[in-house]
Amino acid sequence: MKRIALVPGDGIGPEVISSAVRILNEAGFDGELVEFDIGYGRWRRDGKAITDEDIERMKDCDCILFGAITTPPDPGYSSVLIRIRKELDLYANIRPLRSTRIDAIIVRENTEGLYSGLEVIGDEEARTVRVITKRGSQRIAEVACRIASERSHLTIIHKANVLKSDVLFLRTCREVAERYGIRYDDMLVDAAAYSMVIRPDRFDVMVTTNLFGDILSDEGAGIVGSLGLCASANLGDRWALFEPIHGSAPDIAGKGIANPVGAIRSAAMMLEWFGDRERAQLINHAVDSTLSRGVTTPDLGGSCTTSEFTDAVIGEIRRA
Ligand code: NAI
Ligand code: MG
Repeated sequence: MKRIALVPGDGIGPEVISSAVRILNEAGFDGELVEFDIGYGRWRRDGKAITDEDIERMKDCDCILFGAITTPPDPGYSSVLIRIRKELDLYANIRPLRSTRIDAIIVRENTEGLYSGLEVIGDEEARTVRVITKRGSQRIAEVACRIASERSHLTIIHKANVLKSDVLFLRTCREVAERYGIRYDDMLVDAAAYSMVIRPDRFDVMVTTNLFGDILSDEGAGIVGSLGLCASANLGDRWALFEPIHGSAPDIAGKGIANPVGAIRSAAMMLEWFGDRERAQLINHAVDSTLSRGVTTPDLGGSCTTSEFTDAVIGEIRRA
């Protein structure tokens, strides 16, 4: 039986995760859920947001289903998510962008680039080292090519005209795309940012470095229409973490109106990663039908609560 580390987290995290768990149960998924108390709430009680023991317990699970965590107001705090990504080597961040305007997938390198953590900070000067390795570029390009081989084409997004580190990234991605026989092109990141707004339908699979991927995927969520709709997977060779892309949304936490679609679609991505495509599709279709009937939470202009929306999706699953 699959073992899933369940990290509801803070704010709306537990609200959207409980909705995702209801949907998983309704779809007939019977994995074991191992709950973790990690995040700001834990930090306020014990002064620690996550412990070494939590990481070890996570490694005993197949993957993690993650809600959202409030960043504790402490300058010495380092991100729980970045720690999990590093310790479990979750190097590929996959973010599907799907709406009437766009149907694309951003594949973002998750462990190096400008988020290397190599920084020298002084009062007069501060430096951050941008690390691009052949191995890091190769393995992210391979993930992107495997996804593109079942879709239409790949766009490599970079800034190789200015950043010489991106010459290595671009060259490596091209080599991998050639090896996979994928149709591909490349684009400078600034032009890509513009094109995503003007002609979002030109994109299919997009592969890029850490910071560019971070920024473009939030831009993509804006094109889709709400942060609450978007899901993501963080994949490594052994473990994976699935999470909606939004944060803990303290402004609406506790009101029961969070949009659970990002969390539900993240659970569907988890099923797909397990090889259970059928259940993943069942869930995604049920969400699509619910949204297309105009049943939505307030972020999309509707008046449903989180649980009413979830009930509607369950209704669609039962009708399927
Ligand atoms: P946020 O994503 O929590 O919220 C931004 C805006 O979008 C808010 O107005 C919020 O109400 C709305 N929103 C987000 N998700 C929604 C949903 N599912 N349904 C309806 N509306 C939704 O970003 P913000 O406010 O910058 O961060 C809040 C906290 O979350 C911070 O402590 C931040 O550090 C943390 N955060 C955590 C992340 C994670 O755990 N992966 C990611 C981003 C932020
Ligand atoms: Mg971000």
